[in-house]
Amino acid sequence: MLEVLNHPLITHKLTLMRNKNTGTKDFRENLDEIAELMAYEICRDLPIQPIDIETPMGPCVGYELSKEVVIVPILRAGIGLLDGIRRLVPTAKVGFVGLYRDEETLQPQEYFSKFPKNLKDAIVMIVDPMLATGGSAVAAINLVKERGAKSIKLICLVGVPEGAKAVQEAHPDVDIYLAAMDDHLNEIGYIVPGLGDAGDRIFGTK
Ligand code: PRP
Ligand code: URA
Repeated sequence: MLEVLNHPLITHKLTLMRNKNTGTKDFRENLDEIAELMAYEICRDLPIQPIDIETPMGPCVGYELSKEVVIVPILRAGIGLLDGIRRLVPTAKVGFVGLYRDEETLQPQEYFSKFPKNLKDAIVMIVDPMLATGGSAVAAINLVKERGAKSIKLICLVGVPEGAKAVQEAHPDVDIYLAAMDDHLNEIGYIVPGLGDAGDRIFGTK
């Protein structure tokens, strides 16, 4: 399943992020707000179960989330999506995958991973602003599957058809959510029109 979340607020904020004149502070704040908006849409299908509670007026059957949510940002840039999702799902646990793209080969290089226990029964949300060749997303999904994850959502801001196809071919069981599907990758593997290097723009490293 691939869903592009068409929402006027997301599109407006993403346009601010795309603008090369937008500085680090505004870039980060808009990413954080988009993460929250995307989480609201994506969490529509989270399973719930009945729970007996007492309101001040008496007994009531309420509902609570029935599965643990684990958010896995791909370092570095995925960190920019973490807080916005956690505001909506504060009980979520967090794992990390550290990957960078080799600038020559564009292949993902793993340098860190740390996961909470029991990914098997959780809904695992892998988050990264950019889905370019798809190599990083495929590698991150491989890592969580090796630890037993079965229900996986990939949440990215901007993707291209090449990247979405790579993930769909390697992991047809993973649901992919994007805020925008862009046109193409350029000769050095950057998304066009995209928003540039997400990690550098979030952390001010260029
Ligand atoms: C960026 C981005 C993704 C990856 C996407 O990270 O945040 O992780 O590239 O490219 P792909 O789909 O071709 O794999 P980068 O490697 O620049 O690392 P960073 O987050 O540390 O800047
Ligand atoms: N990574 C980025 O940060 N931006 C792109 O356009 C592609 C990969």
